[in-house]
Amino acid sequence: MSLLEIEDLRVTFSTRHGVVTALDGVSLSLEAGETLAVVGESGCGKSITALSTMGLIPMPPGRIAGGAIRLAGEDLTRASDARLRAMRGAEIAMIFQEPMTSLNPVFTVGHQIAEAILLHQTVSRDQAWRDAVALLDRVGIPSPDARARDYPHQLSGGMRQRVMIAMAVSCRPKVLIADEPTTALDVTVQAQIFDLLNEIQHDFGAAVLLITHDMGAVSEMADRVAVMYAGRVIETGQADDVLDHSRHPYTQGLIDCIPSVDHGGALREIPGVVPPLHLLGAGCAFAERCDHARDQCRSAKPDLRETGGHLAACHGAAEGWL
Ligand SMILES: Nc1ncnc2c1ncn2[C@@H]1O[C@H](COP(=O)(O)OP(=O)(O)OP(=O)(O)O)[C@@H](O)[C@H]1O
Ligand SMILES: [Mg+2]
Repeated sequence: MSLLEIEDLRVTFSTRHGVVTALDGVSLSLEAGETLAVVGESGCGKSITALSTMGLIPMPPGRIAGGAIRLAGEDLTRASDARLRAMRGAEIAMIFQEPMTSLNPVFTVGHQIAEAILLHQTVSRDQAWRDAVALLDRVGIPSPDARARDYPHQLSGGMRQRVMIAMAVSCRPKVLIADEPTTALDVTVQAQIFDLLNEIQHDFGAAVLLITHDMGAVSEMADRVAVMYAGRVIETGQADDVLDHSRHPYTQGLIDCIPSVDHGGALREIPGVVPPLHLLGAGCAFAERCDHARDQCRSAKPDLRETGGHLAACHGAAEGWL
């Protein structure tokens, strides 16, 4: 049994275009202590996967229309609100892209970490404050005693993200979900935050679900990777195997977008856009952007199948014409 198992998860939203399927049979598993990267372009369902796991999908308009999310065997899709509140922060914690949205501007950062500790642990206020300062020290914040008394706006973006990491690990969660934790930061600070996440994972023994649109981060951080497109996992396996021997043209496109000296460090993009959910047809959602697409690709959705040591959902990969 994996620590976290997402099995055939379907999430729908009621919209003005009718009911759309944001997650269409997503399966992921996370083992204790490992890092799984979930990667894909904007709108492919990464955050909805994370929010479903946290029990934070707004319902309505959202609905979990099928599947299961099991944490150490317990199905969270069937858990009560009280159980989910107790679970959040203590067993699974989440770090968001923009720390300003999850930090409260009117309280000091030390106060907010201490409150997070007091919510789930029976310790005195003084002890919670001392623990908060120790955590700030652990995540590399200089003069943690003084910084604990700062308000979020007094800290830089990178320091705020360190505060979020401190808060997230304050109750030693088994699972840490980091949703694009470095997108709002500049490149050198991004690298520092990734280093910190690696260290923290080592020290605290947490499993990390790292959400990113950056294949470069995958190669640096992840043991395994799941590539998502239009609400489905389209390729998954060991990170180095998927990066070195990707079988899906979409994954290949993301890999080609990793800035490298080969193309002068210039940022590339896959031509075309992700189709909006209400316009998804019967075929492969990537077909209209795919140079290799055949008629079959436009008429039938490929399932994930074993191909070259890992799983890919591509007719061409499965049938050997790619
Ligand atoms: N409240 C909502 N109502 C309707 N559709 C929604 C809602 N929330 C999300 N969606 C849709 O679900 C899909 C997946 O969204 P999600 O936020 O998971 O994307 P993402 O992969 O995290 O993208 P990004 O990289 O931009 O954060 C998108 O098509 C989005 O429009
Ligand atoms: Mg997102």
